[in-house]
Amino acid sequence: MDIPAELEQKIDETITHYPVSKRSAVLPLLHLLQEHLGYISSETADWVAKKLDLQPINVLEIVTFYPMFRAAPPGRHHIRVCRTLSCAMAGSYKLLNDLCEMAHIERPQHAGHGTPFTVGEDGKFSIEFVECLASCGTAPVCMVNDDFYEGVNKEAAAEILQKYQ
Ligand code: FES
Repeated sequence: MDIPAELEQKIDETITHYPVSKRSAVLPLLHLLQEHLGYISSETADWVAKKLDLQPINVLEIVTFYPMFRAAPPGRHHIRVCRTLSCAMAGSYKLLNDLCEMAHIERPQHAGHGTPFTVGEDGKFSIEFVECLASCGTAPVCMVNDDFYEGVNKEAAAEILQKYQ
């Protein structure tokens, strides 16, 4: 697997933060790798397992348990729409539909683990319906990559998508 030397150095340094059990470094390593690669492939999970003296299943079970890890490639810009109570009551189901329509993406059919998102045909956007993004008072909210947007109506959603064209 092609890991840049600088990233591997950071990974090795991160592992030193867990002197009692290297296993505890799984989550930070997965975050670092997803940040760089966009998702965690089975090849990446194998690489992490080897690095931490674990079995691949020990890493894969974490990737498939935590919804923040993606097991398939997202679009160039990844949209997350909150579907939890405050946002749902404030219109996040409509927001998801509006975003899918405007970005030409098929609506994700379920929220769950593994690959609960859909990617547009041109690969520009992917969209995911997620649990609480911790800004319930400004519902409905969404994120594009690491950018956070609050009180998003259809007009605001159109402007947001425009920023990432
Ligand atoms: S319910 Fe949407 S941010 Fe909490």
